[in-house]
Amino acid sequence: MGSHELGLPMQVASPEPGELPTQVTIWEVGARDGLQNEKAVVPLEVKLEFLQRLADAGLGVLETTSFVRPEWVPQLADAAEVLAGLHRVPGVRYPVLVPNARGLDRALESGVRDIAIFASATETFTRRNLNRSLDEQFAMFEPVVKRAVGEGLTVRGYVSMCFGDPWEGAVPVGQVVSVGRRLLEMGCWQLSLGDTIGVATPGHVEALLGAFAAADVGVDRLAVHFHDTYGQALANTYAALRLGVSTVDSSAGGLGGCPYAKSATGNLATEDLVWMLDGLGIKHGVDLGKLVETSAWMAERLGRPSPSRVVKALQASDS
Ligand code: HMG
Ligand code: MG
Repeated sequence: MGSHELGLPMQVASPEPGELPTQVTIWEVGARDGLQNEKAVVPLEVKLEFLQRLADAGLGVLETTSFVRPEWVPQLADAAEVLAGLHRVPGVRYPVLVPNARGLDRALESGVRDIAIFASATETFTRRNLNRSLDEQFAMFEPVVKRAVGEGLTVRGYVSMCFGDPWEGAVPVGQVVSVGRRLLEMGCWQLSLGDTIGVATPGHVEALLGAFAAADVGVDRLAVHFHDTYGQALANTYAALRLGVSTVDSSAGGLGGCPYAKSATGNLATEDLVWMLDGLGIKHGVDLGKLVETSAWMAERLGRPSPSRVVKALQASDS
């Protein structure tokens, strides 16, 4: 019986060893990017159990919630309660999204140590997501980053719509690099390059990462954040790994989307990512069995099956 029949990925060494990272940090966004897009508000105790289970499965970074305006994202209006109820596991980071000064006040009151600001590479999405123009977003972020860094927090910078935008079409790589560089100059330690509507393909990923390299932004400052709308998220991730990216965003069970970009569907599923990393012999620290159990448990709470192929396959092989 082959390892696939046992529900284990077959390990085959990379044809060109040394081109792939030996270890990847999985930035789990299910509790934030996943739950922000649910039609029904997920009860507080379910969110807390979800986070606990994700930590138990070995995930070391759990993006927990957002301190955004509650009228804009009611699904995450309980951000302070989530932080208050959290059983922080030593060694696990619990970053949150913060758009502005009010959000930072709230995050600091909740004892947050890691935040992420979220910029857009396009004018239209900045207006729809932040009620600001492209330029105004920087004026909003600048004092937030300055104060947060001064308080000893780490600040990650998201760039959304890095590949395509539903209103503006293809997004020039130069535009993305320019927004990303401004966030780094402000004091962000890492950029997460978001394919918000999942239209990227591997060649486009290579072109964008190449443009960052040409602008002297080291690959150690870059993470990737793929949505799986067109089924390209894993191929795009592989392209990024081969260029040296070693932080990958994903969501347990493939939950996700963005309430202000209707064409955005779920993120790359963490299980699908883990399966590929296992096959490539890349370390990640996650217990796939526990993670699949968590996503199956969450799918029951949400009343629909997980879209992750790996979750479906392993559940089928169990039954
Ligand atoms: P605004 O309506 O322009 O707010 O929203 P404002 O600055 O005019 O303030 C109006 C009122 O809101 C004031 O209260 C503020 O205090 C209050 P008032 O004086 O009228 O009583 N307010 C707040 N209250 C609580 N927390 C706050 C806050 N801010 C203002 N933080 C704002 C501007 C940026 C706040 C709004 O547009 C917003 O919250 N947007 C967030 C949208 C969002 O969360 N989108 C999803 C995340 S992005 C994403 O998913 C993409 C990503 O995954 C990457 C990818 O996939 O590409 C990251
Ligand atoms: Mg996203």
